[in-house]
Order: sequence, then structure tokens, then C-alpha cells
Amino acid sequence: TKKITIAIDGFSSTGKSTIAKQLAKKLGYIYVDTGAMYRAVTLYAMQQNYISDTHFNVDDLITDLNNISLSFSFNESLGFAEMYLNNTNIEKTIRTIEVSRLVSKVAAISEVRRKLVSEQQEMGKNKGIVMDGRDIGTVVFPDAELKLFMTASADKRATRRYKELLDRGDKVNFEEILHNVQERDRIDSTREDSPLLEAEDAIEFDNSDMGLKEQFDRIMSLVNTRL
Ligand code: C5P
Repeated sequence: TKKITIAIDGFSSTGKSTIAKQLAKKLGYIYVDTGAMYRAVTLYAMQQNYISDTHFNVDDLITDLNNISLSFSFNESLGFAEMYLNNTNIEKTIRTIEVSRLVSKVAAISEVRRKLVSEQQEMGKNKGIVMDGRDIGTVVFPDAELKLFMTASADKRATRRYKELLDRGDKVNFEEILHNVQERDRIDSTREDSPLLEAEDAIEFDNSDMGLKEQFDRIMSLVNTRL
């Protein structure tokens, strides 16, 4: 049977990864969370002290990019692939508010994007992939058979992220999360290289109020018209 490429873009915490994971599972496709890759590079930059809340040595990070090896490894019990940075599982660490606060600055660097986009294109070269991020339908796979663009109100999105972090046992503050979501959206939408924008041929989903089941069914029927 024919395999397609599914590109899912949108603002932070719009439920992209939940839908992407479900689609990949249903279709037997690979799921790639590209945000995890930008988060991993950010964690590396933090570990090397290239970036903090008060400084960013962009050139040092760029020079060191070749030493960053990213990989995904499927975790059977979790049902999704976890992110590895230089062979260390960093799935939990990259979701912290500290990384969230710095990731959009790192993601604005063209050299970082060039490295990650080429790795993403390599992962998707045989199709049968669901990829979520900010520039998947516009830059990574402009020829994707199906492009979705997810939106939801900032408040709904912050609430979603807040619950996720609470469920994991993190100490978090709602205002801080709301501020972070809005700040990342601002930086992601206004950067020069590959800003977050809706591809012309993307189909938009506002899931502020739509139930997950309804949304999934609607997207699956779109998938079926492209197979
Ligand atoms: O998807 P997630 O919210 O984990 O992404 C974290 C950050 O990584 C985004 O706010 C954005 O700055 C960056 N990103 C990006 N391009 C992508 C995926 C994520 O710039 N394709």
C-alpha cells in the first residue's frame, strides 16, 4: 500500500504530538517529534554553558554542532520513541521549564536548523512518517501529502502544558507556563529563518473545544483520501 508523509505544525501545546502519536500508531508509521530535537540541542548548549538566561555564545554552539549526535529509540512500554543526546536518554530533562525558556533562542539559529532539518529529511525519505514541529509543511517536507496546522487559545494551551507537567510531578506555576507558551510563539513566529507559519495547502484545526476522538476521526478521513 502507498505510504504518505504527514506534516503537523502549529503553536506550542496545541496537541500536535498527541494527534501525531495516535496517527502513527494507527497507520504503522514512524512518529518524529522535531521539538525534542531542538530541545536536545538546547540542553547540550546549557550543559556546555553556551547558553543561560543571561548569556548566549552563539559561535561556540555553532562550532560544536558536529559533536551533537541525536537519535530516537522506541520505548515499548511507553509506546513512543524517546530522545537521546550522545547516547544518553534525555527524554525527561528536555521537557523542563528551564529548557522551554531557552529553546526558541537556539531554534532561531540557522546553523542549528540546517543540521536538524537535514536529519529530519533523512528520517522521512521513505515516507510512512508523521512529523510534528513548526516548519514541517513549509520547509522540511513542502511536498507532504497531508499538512495539518493546529491552533488553540493560549489559555487552553497553557492549561494543557501545565497539567502535563503537574502529572509528571514537576513543581510548576501556571503564570510562568502561560508566559513561556506566549513568548515561544512570539519568537517562533517572528524569527527570520523558517518562522512558524501555516503552509498554503495546510488544513487548519482549532482544537480549543474539539474532542480528541472527533479530531482524530476527521483527520483519519483526510488521510484516507490521500492513500
Ligand atoms: O514542539 P515543542 O514545543 O517541544 O518545540 C520546542 C521549540 O522548538 C519550539 O518552541 C520552537 O522554538 C522549536 N522548534 C522549531 N522547529 C520545529 C520544532 C520545534 O523551531 N520544527
